[in-house]
Amino acid sequence: MKLADNKATMSFSNGSPSVELPVYSGSVGPDVIDIRKLYGQTGMFTYDPGFLSTAACQSAITYIDGDKGELLYRGYPIEQLATNCDFMETCHLLLYGNLPDAAGKAVFTKRVTQHTMVNEQMQFFLRGFRRDAHPMAIMTGLVGALSAFYHDSTDINNPGHRDISAIRLIAKLPTLVAMAYKYSIGQPFMYPKNELSYAGNFLHMMFATPCEPYVVNPVIERALDRIFILHADHEQNASTSTVRLCGSSGTNPFAAIAAGVACLWGPAHGGANEACLNMLEEIQASGGVSKVGEFMEKVKDKNSGVKLMGFGHRVYKNYDPRAKLMQETCNEVLAALGLENDPLFQLAKALEKIALEDEYFVSRKLYPNVDFYSGIVQRAIGIPVKLFTGIFALARTVGWIAQLNEMIGDPEYKIGRPRQLFTGSLPRAVLDISKR
Ligand code: SDX
Repeated sequence: MKLADNKATMSFSNGSPSVELPVYSGSVGPDVIDIRKLYGQTGMFTYDPGFLSTAACQSAITYIDGDKGELLYRGYPIEQLATNCDFMETCHLLLYGNLPDAAGKAVFTKRVTQHTMVNEQMQFFLRGFRRDAHPMAIMTGLVGALSAFYHDSTDINNPGHRDISAIRLIAKLPTLVAMAYKYSIGQPFMYPKNELSYAGNFLHMMFATPCEPYVVNPVIERALDRIFILHADHEQNASTSTVRLCGSSGTNPFAAIAAGVACLWGPAHGGANEACLNMLEEIQASGGVSKVGEFMEKVKDKNSGVKLMGFGHRVYKNYDPRAKLMQETCNEVLAALGLENDPLFQLAKALEKIALEDEYFVSRKLYPNVDFYSGIVQRAIGIPVKLFTGIFALARTVGWIAQLNEMIGDPEYKIGRPRQLFTGSLPRAVLDISKR
């Protein structure tokens, strides 16, 4: 970041001395006012619950222009990456800052492939869960448990440890998600197959059985790989900020990523894809497109507590570029599977059309986000609704790690320790229980 030719002056109506604060610029996007010395100079904190106007860090990984609906991974537009690259190239880009050449891609892919198995002991953790446990409950546990198997590489300040942990997490998340699925349906776990692609291997571990050969459908393989690319990173969202704050204590990468999994589960965040599919199925069950108007009235009624899941975004005040790409992927997969008239897809498109013409949504700049169509394509592939957020976590792991490693590699980083505006009781004496 560089000092802008601008300064911020904060003055106070009560006559307190004004303070001057430096302003910094990045390569693109809003400048920042550096308030690090504000408390020392004024004895006051800034107040920004939900971080609506707060940059918590500087980063060179992902840039979002919410007004334009633009998303760049290391400067490359998501539309170009989703069309011209695969997930392994995208992982290399996010982790190391550049797209690999063919040789570099082969080396990186081989490293990941050779770490896809998990320790045999891991399977025994599954047995502690009920068969109907939510996969995100299982994933939160399993990812944290990984740290118990790699005491040789949990020093987050060691670049070599950070690199091998990154490879292990990217490689093993698909295996763990597939194990959670197999456990829920009472089928045996399938081991990774090294001759398959990252997405193909995941499909095999999910849907193959020991009883007969499983052939990966190339259209579905490509669609899943694109879904992974679209979910790989997204600037300082809630789960990434969780990973950064958790990692800032110096805890190991597995524990920090497990914290990200836990945060992503929420329906306002990564859990929205599951919530969106459930919403579509409820509308479909109550009458389908003919009931959309009635549903929209509920959404616009503040007292109903009903939201149009998969719509709205803290940053995008325009169409989420990932939603457009996801809708295209929907079209491709449904056509390949002969499901062009999938009622839920038709319903989602009808909902989107109505919302984009409705003043409530237009005035609030609410557009479809990444979660609006992702559930429909995953459901068409055969992924159960409860597993959607697990797939999101699988794909976002590379982004979480890239962001964590960027923070730890920043010599300026400190443990994150926000303050508060205290509104509780002033000091008071404890009375004996007989007098309370
Ligand atoms: C992800 O941050 C990221 O980058 C996240 C993510 C990533 O890749 O990491 O992009 C992934 O989490 C996508 C978002 C998935 N969540 C959902 O689809 C859940 C539904 N969306 C909302 O809960 C909401 O839009 C949020 C949480 C996503 C954003 O909420 P904000 O920024 O805090 O905005 P807000 O709640 O203040 O909403 C502004 C207004 C409010 O109305 P008013 O009080 O002004 O009258 O818009 C309304 C909200 O009630 N609103 C909605 C709505 N989203 C916002 N009303 C109906 N349906 C919605 N979906």
